[in-house]
Formats: sequence, C-alpha cells, structure tokens
Amino acid sequence: MKCIKCKKTAEVELKSHNAAFCRDCFVEFFKNQVIKGIKKFKMFTDKDKLLVAVSGGKDSLTVWHVLNELGYKADGLFIDLGIDGFSEVAKKTTEAFAERLSAKLIVVDLKKEGLAIPDVVKKTRRVACAVCGQIKRYYFNMTALKYGYDVLITGHNLDDEVGRLFSNVLHWKMEYLKDQSPLLPAEDGLAKKAKPLWRLTEFETSVYAFFNDIDYVSISCPLSKNATFRSYKKHLNEIEFDSPGTKIDFYQGFLKNMLPVLSKKNESSIKNRCKICGYPTLADVCGVCRLKGLD
Ligand code: AMP
Ligand code: FES
Ligand code: ZN
Repeated sequence: MKCIKCKKTAEVELKSHNAAFCRDCFVEFFKNQVIKGIKKFKMFTDKDKLLVAVSGGKDSLTVWHVLNELGYKADGLFIDLGIDGFSEVAKKTTEAFAERLSAKLIVVDLKKEGLAIPDVVKKTRRVACAVCGQIKRYYFNMTALKYGYDVLITGHNLDDEVGRLFSNVLHWKMEYLKDQSPLLPAEDGLAKKAKPLWRLTEFETSVYAFFNDIDYVSISCPLSKNATFRSYKKHLNEIEFDSPGTKIDFYQGFLKNMLPVLSKKNESSIKNRCKICGYPTLADVCGVCRLKGLD
C-alpha cells in the first residue's frame, strides 16, 4: 500500500478517510485534523492562555504535544488522585513529559485537599469514577479560574465523545446531551473548556503517540470498573469496522442537527454560588465542599 500523499510505503491505513499514509504524512494529517477541530469551534488562538489537563495517559499527553507542535504555548495541570500504585506513576510520567516540552506543570494534590479518591469512595460508597469525575471537573475549573487561564483543554477523543453520546442517547440523558460539545463556552464561574482531539479516533491518537515517542502510562486505574462504557465502545468499534466513518458521521450529525435544538431549549440554569468556594451549584454548598465536610 502506498501513501496517498507522497507515494512512499504506507504505514497506516485509515478506512474512514479512504486513505493510507506514511509516517510523516500521517503526522501531518493528524495535525491538520486538530487545526480543523479547533477552527470549526473557534476554540482558541495563540493569544489565549491555555491550560491542558494532563493525566499521564495517551490522549492528554498527545493533545499537549500536538498543541506544542502547532505553536500554542500551553501549561499543564495534573490532579494527583492519591490512588496507590497508580497516581505516583502517572505523576512521574507527566512531570517527565512537561520537562520534555519545557512546559510549566501545575500539580493539585487531592490528599492535601482531604479528597484522595480511595478515601472519598470509602466514606460515600459512591462509584469511584463518578465521584472522581466530579472532583476532577471541579479542580479543572477552579485552577483555570484561579490562575487566569482562558481555556481548559482535555484529551477527549472521538471514541470518548461517541461512546458518551451513544450512552446518553440510549438512556435519553437530556441534561447531559446538551453539554456534549467539543467546546463549552465560559459562563459566570465556569471556565471555557475545549476538546481539540474530537475529530480523531483512539486508534489515530495511539498511532500519533507511537510515531512521536510519547511515553504514556499504560496501566489503567485500579478503581475504574466502567464495564458498560467499555462495552459501548466495543460495539461502536464493531459498527465502525463494518461501516468505516460511522463514528464521525454520528457525532457530526449530532453536533449539526441535535445540539442547536437542545441548547436553545436549555438556557443555563445554575445561578447559585457555593457559599464556601463560589462554584456554581443548585444548592447552598457545592458537591465538592460537601465531600470535604464529610467525616
Ligand atoms: P478520563 O475521564 O480519565 O477519560 O479523562 C478525560 C480527560 O480528563 C483526559 O484526557 C485528561 O485531559 C483529563 N484528566 C483525566 N484525569 C486527569 C488527572 N488526574 N489530572 C489531570 N487531567 C486529567
Ligand atoms: Fe478516576 Fe480511576 S481515574 S476513578
Ligand atoms: Zn464549594
């Protein structure tokens, strides 16, 4: 198979794009997809102060790397979840990568905040991923606002977005569907959030990481048992295998046809502020401050 750009021997075939690429042309293709994804939603410019939430995993290290390659200067934010045997490795990997990019890295230590994930799970008996997601989103937002960043960036890729969309549609989670956009604009008390890898699949992201020698954490979180979500992704991969291009069509179709309808119906509803920390909330005290107050 030959690269469709330069006719050298191809190393990657992308059926959904009807294409095959050599190493250099694939990296170029990947960067172009990121540029397209940023432009489509007017996510940010090189004048903006950018903060990338980096877990040490493939996707977030890749988005940090590619933004750097495209000339954006972005700082990193690592949340140390306090999970033994996992968080230490993730932190070391992220710190080493920050050094490679000569980028600044902010570290938030949840143990110091009294919110180490294993402790919170023990106290609340809630599902680890749900409470962990809630705490992470809180610190993404608070850190971005505290240090004056214009945009908070995450490494979510097309498979993440399509998996979540599929799950939200299957269960008709209308309140989540309306927030399922690669760009969430800034609101009072909430930082702007962007997902520049929304056009790129998990496979394409892995290939980019491999071609760029990105050394990421490959062990998965010992607390995460989200088998349902993994099974949705598996089914979607089977559909994609039979009909290449279905994932991007499904997501783009949602963004074009459904999201405008949902957004119009659901004007922002949260007007209250947490009386302890100022985070937008429906109650007097936000969920994370309530978790901090638990004994
Ligand atoms: P996940 O929810 O684990 O699939 O992660 C989604 C995105 O959230 C990643 O691509 C990162 O951008 C960000 N993220 C996840 N965990 C952390 C962490 N511990 N610290 C900073 N960012 C994170
Ligand atoms: Fe959040 Fe494992 S990374 S529960
Ligand atoms: Zn609060």
